Amino acid sequence: MPLNHGNILHLQKAKVDAMIKLEIEKSPLLVAKKASLFYQELLAQKPNAVLGLATGSTPILLYKELVKLYEKKVIDFSQAICFNLDEYCHIPKEHPQSYNTFMHEQLYHAVNISSKNTFIPKGDEVDLSKECKRYNALLQEHGPIDLQLLGIGRNGHVGFNEPNTELEIGTHVVKLKDETINDNSRFFDTDEEVPKYAISVGMKTILTSKKILLLAVGKEKATIVKELLESRITTNIPASLLHLHSDITLICDEAAASLL
Ligand code: GLP
Repeated sequence: MPLNHGNILHLQKAKVDAMIKLEIEKSPLLVAKKASLFYQELLAQKPNAVLGLATGSTPILLYKELVKLYEKKVIDFSQAICFNLDEYCHIPKEHPQSYNTFMHEQLYHAVNISSKNTFIPKGDEVDLSKECKRYNALLQEHGPIDLQLLGIGRNGHVGFNEPNTELEIGTHVVKLKDETINDNSRFFDTDEEVPKYAISVGMKTILTSKKILLLAVGKEKATIVKELLESRITTNIPASLLHLHSDITLICDEAAASLL
């Protein structure tokens, strides 16, 4: 392709389009409000959208906003299909700290999402590899995901795709890294209780989503946010693979953006 002025402009635009779009908001609440607009817009356009949902402390305020919007009749989940990223292994789904319990408490019980349209990996299955195949098949049947919500672990994990020399493509069982187990221990009464394994969707499910919304709040995320935005693509920071996606927005509060 000859490099005339028009083509250079085109290339520049392609480069801009491929970057992680960064939005910085003053507070975690404003991050949640900004993020909730993505859901309002998507569900207004496509009521039966497939939503990829996340757990952890980061999305809690967003889920509260979505519940408020539902109560004000601004948003309707009746046809939405929801897939969670991950679940702990070897704890019952009714456990107070399971991601299944989290989703019901934070969102599902309070909005009109039909229970037949909510999917979370079953970490308490005896045959976990069969469960991974079942979850992959469900994602194939309903996917691709229209809007994938992500948080980020302090070590750069997304879902439970932990830093490693290789990353998994599809849904898989993960041995959690010590730092992740340590971070998660705040939710459990004793160290023995903290799950050491989880089921997570793979990087392919995340990267084939049509749109990605990555949220980061708090000063403890400032280092990884800086690393993510400045890093090349490396499996040591699984989130860095998100640079490959052409429609990703990172919304940070000022604390998470404080080292930029
Ligand atoms: C867990 C989840 C991730 C989440 C991460 C960050 O490990 N599997 O999906 O993004 O924690 O959690 P938090 O939002 O509590 O910092």
